Amino acid sequence: MTDTLTPVLSDNWDADKPWTMESYERSGGYAALRTALGMEQDAVIALVKDSGLRGRGGAGFPTGMKWGFIPQGDGKPHYLVVNADESEPGTCKDIPLMMASPHTLVEGVIISSYAIRANTAFIYVRGEVLHVVRRLQRAVQEAYLAGHLGKNIHGSGYDLDLIVHAGAGAYICGEETALLDSLEGRRGQPRLRPPFPAVAGLYAAPTVINNVESIASVPCIVANGAEWFGSMGTEKSKGMTLYSLSGHVKRPGQYEAPLGITLRQLLDLSGGVREGHELKFWTPGGSSTPILTAEHLDVPLDYEGVGAAGSMLGTKALQIFDETTCVVRAVLRWTEFYKHESCGKCTPCREGTWWLVQTLARLEEGRGTEADLELLLDQCDNILGRAFCALGDGATSPITSSIQYFRDDYIRHFTEGGCPFNPADSTVFATAGATA
Ligand SMILES: Cc1cc2nc3c(=O)[nH]c(=O)nc-3n(C[C@H](O)[C@H](O)[C@H](O)COP(=O)(O)O)c2cc1C
Ligand code: SF4
Repeated sequence: MTDTLTPVLSDNWDADKPWTMESYERSGGYAALRTALGMEQDAVIALVKDSGLRGRGGAGFPTGMKWGFIPQGDGKPHYLVVNADESEPGTCKDIPLMMASPHTLVEGVIISSYAIRANTAFIYVRGEVLHVVRRLQRAVQEAYLAGHLGKNIHGSGYDLDLIVHAGAGAYICGEETALLDSLEGRRGQPRLRPPFPAVAGLYAAPTVINNVESIASVPCIVANGAEWFGSMGTEKSKGMTLYSLSGHVKRPGQYEAPLGITLRQLLDLSGGVREGHELKFWTPGGSSTPILTAEHLDVPLDYEGVGAAGSMLGTKALQIFDETTCVVRAVLRWTEFYKHESCGKCTPCREGTWWLVQTLARLEEGRGTEADLELLLDQCDNILGRAFCALGDGATSPITSSIQYFRDDYIRHFTEGGCPFNPADSTVFATAGATA
C-alpha cells in the first residue's frame, strides 16, 4: 500500500481534449482492445478474475466472478449493461470520468462484451446530465468510425453494437433490476430475484450489469496484467479507485488512490478541512452508507476496513462536514431525498420514508421529544431488512448512525427549542451532496 495518488483512470484527464479519440489513442488508448481480441474470451474473464477487481458501483462484488455466471454456449443473446445512472447524493465519480475520458469506458465496454460473448451493449446514463449523454454519443460515433465497434471488429470476426440510453432521472433506476425494466421501456422498479440478471436479465437473456468505473478499469488490467493491478490496494480490495471528496474540504475533487488509503491521508492530499474548522462527520460512500466521525480518520478505505468500522465503502463518495453543520438537518435533507425517490413498490419504504421525514422534521424544528427519537429508531427498524430493495435500507443508515454518534445534537434541538447551529454558518448544502 502506498499513500500517494495513483492516477490510472484519471491519468489522461489533463491532456489536451482528452475526450477525443485522437487524444485517447495518443495516450495508448485502444491498444488493450487489440490485445483482448487476440485472447480467448475465457482468458479475458480469467484475467479480470485474477486481478481481483471488485465492482465500483457500491457493493464491491468481484467483477470477473459476475462475468463467470453468464452461461456460455446457451445459444441466447447476451447483454452488457453499464450502469451510468449515478444519482446517490455525494457520488460524483462516473460523470467526471465519462466527461473527461469517455473512450476509457467505451474501450472497457468492447473488451467486457467480447469476454462475455455479448453482441449488444448499453450504457444507461442518467438523462439529466445531457452534456455527458452527448459526450458519450460522440465517443461511440468515433469508435464506430475507427472500426472499434460494428461488424467484424478489426478482422476478429466479433460484432458489437453499443447503444447510449438516457434514463429519465430516477435514483431507483440505478438499482440494477429497476434499470433493466426502465431499459425495456417499463416503469423503473426493482425485480424480484431470483432469477438473477446473469440468467434472465435484459429481455430475459443473460446480462452483466456493471458500474462505469468497474468497466473503465478493464482496459488497464488487460494492458498491464493482473499482478500490476493487485500490486495496488489491499489483500482483498485490490487496485486503485476514484475517491470523491466534497463538502468542507479545501480542494474537493477526484483523488485516484489505492484501495486502503485513509481519510487522513486523503485530507492531507486535498489540503484538509476548510481553514479554521474541524471534521465533525463524513460519509465513506454516499448518503446511504452510515456516517463516520473524526475517530475513524485512520480506517483503511477498503471494503473490509470500512465494514469493520460499522459502515460501507459504497461509492467512495467522501462528503466532509465540519463542526458548523447540523447533523440533524443534513440527515433530514438526505431523508427527504429517499422519500422523494422511493419508487413506491413496497410498503415499508413507500410509507416508512414518509414517516421518517415527518418525525425528523419535527425533531429538526425543535418540536420533538425524547419519545420521537425512539419512534425514529423504531421506524428505521421497520424498514431495515423489510424493504424490497436496498434503497429502503440505505434510507435508514444516516439516521441510525447519526443518532449513534450525535444523540446529543438531536436532544439539543428539543431542549433548546430549535436548531442550535446557526444555519447562516452552514454552507454545507451549497457544497456537498450536490449531485442529489
Ligand atoms: C437505489 C439504488 C441505486 C443505485 N444506483 C447505482 C448507480 O447509479 N450506479 C451503479 O453503478 N450502481 C448503482 N446501484 C448498485 C447497482 O444495483 C449494482 O449493484 C451495480 O450497478 C453493479 O455494478 P458493479 O458490480 O460494477 O458495482 C444502486 C443500487 C441501489 C439499491
Ligand atoms: S425499497 Fe423503496 S425503492 Fe425499493 S422497491 Fe421498495 S419502495 Fe421501491
